Amino acid sequence: MTVNRRFTLAARPQGLPKDSDFLLTQDIVPPLQEGEFLIRNHYASIDPAIRGWLEPGGNYMPPVPIGDAVRASTIGVVELSRHPDFTAGQWVMGLNKVEDYSIGRGDGFTQPIDVDAVPSPTAYLSVAGAVGLTAWFGVEDVMQPAAGQTVLVSGAAGAVGSLVGQLAKRRGARVVGIAGGAEKCARLIDRYGFDQAIDYRGKDVEALSADIAAACPDGVHFVYENVGGACLDAALLNLAQGALVVICGLISEYNSAPQGARNIWQLLVKTATMRGYLISQYLDRFPEGVTAMAKLAGEGAIVYDEHVEDGIDNALPAMLRLFDGSNQGKMILKLI
Ligand SMILES: NC(=O)c1ccc[n+]([C@@H]2O[C@H](COP(=O)([O-])OP(=O)(O)OC[C@H]3O[C@@H](n4cnc5c(N)ncnc54)[C@H](OP(=O)(O)O)[C@@H]3O)[C@@H](O)[C@H]2O)c1
Repeated sequence: MTVNRRFTLAARPQGLPKDSDFLLTQDIVPPLQEGEFLIRNHYASIDPAIRGWLEPGGNYMPPVPIGDAVRASTIGVVELSRHPDFTAGQWVMGLNKVEDYSIGRGDGFTQPIDVDAVPSPTAYLSVAGAVGLTAWFGVEDVMQPAAGQTVLVSGAAGAVGSLVGQLAKRRGARVVGIAGGAEKCARLIDRYGFDQAIDYRGKDVEALSADIAAACPDGVHFVYENVGGACLDAALLNLAQGALVVICGLISEYNSAPQGARNIWQLLVKTATMRGYLISQYLDRFPEGVTAMAKLAGEGAIVYDEHVEDGIDNALPAMLRLFDGSNQGKMILKLI
């Protein structure tokens, strides 16, 4: 009998998630059916997107049902298999749940991973995982910035933002990052190689816009938006002609009613484009992105940071760190 601890949704959060919205439940893993395999999850990826999956309407994925474990990408090891393509002992990654054990069915969501190709298996949740691929395709396919152009990244010291900045720099662009606090701003320059950093804390749209104008005197050719709210409104006031605004995330609105971008008239003035971008659009090109990002990280051509919290009991505190900015890199929960 194998016991499965699960971080279970008890109630839909109103605003910031709190203790009473979740329960740590225990189930018994059911016997495997033909075509199934049992994954012992080692690490779960704690992503801002999870907050949207807890809403009654979900976001780009259906809502997590109340009483079910919270959905998350995980990496783990196959313990038992009744599937022809998966064998015991094999490392896999997939869209599973925050739980000790998940059952895989080989339906495309779970893929084998080569843990020898990366410094640590957790790289498949960070630099060579969804956040790394979000940065890779966002820069190399969606934006394709070049020398002489300026990229403005919000949430710049985070998992996606720090990689976006480095990849854009590699293409020769000038890169300006927006982050919370002096320490993160220093890290943008010293560790991630951004050209300039702007601290958004305590600033309204006018003050932020003035900072962006000073850092980007020729205007911003690409906005890589992870935050929304005042950051987005200030960025819109500083567009170069024909700019592209890529909406990757709007984390400032995930726990509250949407603020809305108030300066979209600037799209007209600057004949600019604003578009949404989801990494799931690139599912069929994931292997290409994994190879590219693992190679760059392996060569030390890009750096990445992981913030690992220990134990399923810490699932909620780990999630909350994404919203108070106390995560120092890709937020990962260690399950074993
Ligand atoms: N489109 C896609 O396919 C896709 C895929 C992955 C992630 N995303 C999005 O990318 C963004 C970053 O995700 P991540 O996984 O890399 O997380 P992360 O940036 O590592 O962590 C979240 C960071 O957001 C910042 N933040 C939180 N609340 C904020 C607020 N109210 N105002 C300003 N900044 C705030 C905090 O940094 P500070 O300390 O700087 O405030 C925090 O550290 C999120 O919006 C996420 O939804 C999109």
